[in-house]
Amino acid sequence: MPFYITTAISYVNGVPHLGHAYEAIATDVIARHMRQRDGDVFFLTGTDEHGEPVADAAQAEGIDPQELADRNAERFKALMPLLGVSNDFFIRTTDPEHERRVQEVLQRVHDNGYTYKGVYEGWYCARCADFKVENEILEGNLCPIHEIALELKQEENWFFKLSAFQERLEQVYAEHPAFVMPLVRFNEARSFITSGLQDISLSRKHLKWGVTVPWDHEHVFYVWFDALLNYYTALGYARPGEDLTDHFWPANFHIIGKDILKFHTVFWPAILMAADLPLPEHVFVHGFLLGADGRKMSKSLGNVLDPFEVLEEFGTDALRFYLMRDVSFGSDGTVGMDAVTARYESELANDYGNLASRTIAMIHRYRDGVVPDVPTDSELAREFEDLLPELRELMDAAEVSTALELIWRRVRRCNRYVEERAPWRLAKDPDAAGELDRTLASLAEAVRVISVLVSPYVPTSAQKLLDVLGAPELSLGGAEFAPTGGGRRVAVLEPLFPKRA
Ligand code: MSP
Repeated sequence: MPFYITTAISYVNGVPHLGHAYEAIATDVIARHMRQRDGDVFFLTGTDEHGEPVADAAQAEGIDPQELADRNAERFKALMPLLGVSNDFFIRTTDPEHERRVQEVLQRVHDNGYTYKGVYEGWYCARCADFKVENEILEGNLCPIHEIALELKQEENWFFKLSAFQERLEQVYAEHPAFVMPLVRFNEARSFITSGLQDISLSRKHLKWGVTVPWDHEHVFYVWFDALLNYYTALGYARPGEDLTDHFWPANFHIIGKDILKFHTVFWPAILMAADLPLPEHVFVHGFLLGADGRKMSKSLGNVLDPFEVLEEFGTDALRFYLMRDVSFGSDGTVGMDAVTARYESELANDYGNLASRTIAMIHRYRDGVVPDVPTDSELAREFEDLLPELRELMDAAEVSTALELIWRRVRRCNRYVEERAPWRLAKDPDAAGELDRTLASLAEAVRVISVLVSPYVPTSAQKLLDVLGAPELSLGGAEFAPTGGGRRVAVLEPLFPKRA
């Protein structure tokens, strides 16, 4: 089954920060898991390069917007491999193929009669590049996101008839309770719709930095229309010489942060309907990362956790694990260096790393490096029995942190198993040789299964360990707890999560 998943595309008026890394990593975990199901996966990320905020930032630096976009897009693109993110394509909304397809789709929206010319007057936030409707505006005419003063702006615009989709959107929400996840965000989106939709601007007249409106060359499209369409246009040109649109559209998941809910759960489905295109299956809305003090991360508060610092000190897998483990996906969460250290030491090094190194070391010490080919312990196997179906179900709902918790319970269970069985005592008793065989075979199998399951989170360490176990296969089909040890030879394991100086 084709599976198509996307992140939001990042604004290039700033540089990558932990929030971007977080979203890319979470999306990557789901993409990697789906590939393990032998799924035919396409994973898209990229940069959002048009619009007023980018034009303004370039102007402030005295450079061309394209120059700013090129410089910062490169930073976002280069971050992905550092994070272990396995995206299949990186879209830039200044790609000419994207621009052409945006024009094509929105021309269809125009031809279908969902646009008109009018004068827009409203409260505008320059940082959001968005007009705010009455029920969003904070007291004192402030932007609800940036808490800066909104400007009253009047402009001749092309309009998109969002209001024409009131009933059809209500119907989507009535028929597809999993369209937006988690539920609290579904309710938020639905109540935005039921409170009454107003038409929205489709174009800007005084801005040059954007995709030209094909039926009125004095206008460029409002950046959000251009940006949202990336999810669709990318499929047309991501693989040279191929058009993947029919194969992968509609998307299975858009993963986004809570600040851009309205665009993805209200505007986006309406645009697609206006262009006669099918709607994505799910939009998953994650929370915000906050500084360790619970406040929004900001340089001036000194509570920023820098992804590059964590990468340098702990490595890619540790950053990925930390973010997926410490912040419940879908909720806000505080992050800080102390917490990274604690998770690294107590869970990666002690729980998983230790389980792996003890198991491999004992196989070398007591059985000359060969996993005994004897039946595994059915009691330990039972602990893993329901895990795979449970994980599949959780990943189908993008529940990446709950899924990791289920895997971790098994890691802990196995460490208790080592203590209970005390192989070092069995090794001293010649009558217990069979029991020692069974214990070691069971532990090797448990470590293998855990590593397959946890590999989307810590891909490098898990693969290293699987290679050492002589079982490099990642497919979920092979993640059932095997009834026998298998007689494989294991290699020497270097510490996966070394002690830090
Ligand atoms: N360009 C728009 C998205 C267009 S999608 C068609 C945008 N860009 S952004 O760079 O501001 O944000 C990109 C993503 O990062 C968004 O999903 C946003 O919610 C997420 N995050 C930005 N800061 C964040 C945190 N502090 N924490 C978690 N995610 C956050 O919005």
